Amino acid sequence: MKISDAEVLGAQKTYTILTYGCQMNVRDSEIIAGMLEGIGYIRTLSIENADLIVFNTCSVRHSAENKVFGKLGEVALMKKKNPDLLIALGGCMAQLPEVKPRLKKSGVDIVFGTHNIHELPFLVQDAAAKRTYHYQVWSENSEVIEYERSIRRPGVSAFINIMYGCNNFCAYCIVPHTRGRERSRHPEEIIRETKEIAEAGYKEITLLGQNVNSYGKGLDSGVDFADLLRMVNDVDGIERVRFTTSHPKDVSDKLIHSIASLNKVCEHIHMPLQAGNNEVLQAMNRKYTREHYLELVNKVRTEIPGVAITSDLIVGFPGETEEQFEDTLDMVKRIRFDAAFTFMYSIRTGTKAASMEAQVNLEEKRRRLTKLNQVQYQIAEEINQQWEGKIAEVLVEGTSKTNRQKMTARTRSNQIVIFSGDEDLIGKQINVRITKAKTFSLFGEIV
Ligand code: SAH
Ligand code: SF4
Ligand code: F3S
Repeated sequence: MKISDAEVLGAQKTYTILTYGCQMNVRDSEIIAGMLEGIGYIRTLSIENADLIVFNTCSVRHSAENKVFGKLGEVALMKKKNPDLLIALGGCMAQLPEVKPRLKKSGVDIVFGTHNIHELPFLVQDAAAKRTYHYQVWSENSEVIEYERSIRRPGVSAFINIMYGCNNFCAYCIVPHTRGRERSRHPEEIIRETKEIAEAGYKEITLLGQNVNSYGKGLDSGVDFADLLRMVNDVDGIERVRFTTSHPKDVSDKLIHSIASLNKVCEHIHMPLQAGNNEVLQAMNRKYTREHYLELVNKVRTEIPGVAITSDLIVGFPGETEEQFEDTLDMVKRIRFDAAFTFMYSIRTGTKAASMEAQVNLEEKRRRLTKLNQVQYQIAEEINQQWEGKIAEVLVEGTSKTNRQKMTARTRSNQIVIFSGDEDLIGKQINVRITKAKTFSLFGEIV
């Protein structure tokens, strides 16, 4: 006799979540998991066995949406075999009115937005009972919802949202449209959660926000981001504190000083430059100049020894000329980022840049991206080579994804280090001598 999983598990319904996009979505998926388990669903890692498949989507670039639609097509076919299968779709794509008609035809049963994740359990129960299409997306929510329960990724590092939304409206960016206005969580809630995380055995936390430097605006707590870093730094059990993202226009001297002086706050600042030409920066609505950025880099490097500065860069913003692109290359060569995420500009309906004339053609964008990557990868490799022969203090994260025989760890400046070691080192800070450097990782041995 063959006993199905469902019988063994007392016919409990199973769910799986497919997460796309940034760390905010990773964190939201942990909250979604908590809510689904709250209504009796249990997680399965196999998509074929799931009674409920949740897509947590991203719409930052066209390619992100394409990935979702591709997978959705595949999953919708599974309904032929299993008519009881429920498909739910949330995240940033769900917030976009122009995707609404396409979603209705795609086999999705439930669409929920970024502002009403808390409604998902009700929507799931209702859709399971009635088998009708549920589209429940709020266009805005000025409140911050505190979730009682979540199921975090196992490991040594945990994410904490400190704020939601964004008010910056960079001309290319869809995020303010999908995540709404900026609002901060109360510091007490963040500290409560940090303590919980420490008690659960996590060693590192990453504070998340689209622009963490404007944390606390709109609250009457009087706590700004630098103050929050200090409060989090004081939580016992947490050994490392990271944060992302820092908008260059809002990096204050107080913040730089806090990073330099707080022992657990890692020497790494992700501070996207986006473009190296002042006209392009202005058209992007970034509100800083290349001169300001260079000054900032100088200050950060002077005050925080060993700091890593990383960036996001966009090529082919509407109207970007060859000379203006060269200004980006020039900045990359001058600043020498430890790492950078590089993107081709992607038109996002509803943003200011979508209606700008002089869109750069795809072939040209590809050429610029390849050129930029050549320059940046070379720099990253050179920076990594400076580590050879040196000793790095690393936090051991787990076994390496690419080589199960090896362990993976991270330096305070966020470089990945691969080395031979035992699994009982996971969660510990140890010293490793770097023996070899590559573009994206370092290799070493325990000292
Ligand atoms: N809040 C963060 C970024 C969030 S989006 C910040 O301000 O730094 C992550 C990155 O995606 C951005 O930094 C930008 O480089 C890139 N990005 C956003 N919209 C894009 C678009 N329309 N085309 C290409 N890249 C984009
Ligand atoms: Fe997008 Fe700019 Fe806000 Fe970052 S700061 S999320 S790039 S609008
Ligand atoms: Fe994508 Fe939304 Fe994050 S658009 S990058 S999932 S905030």
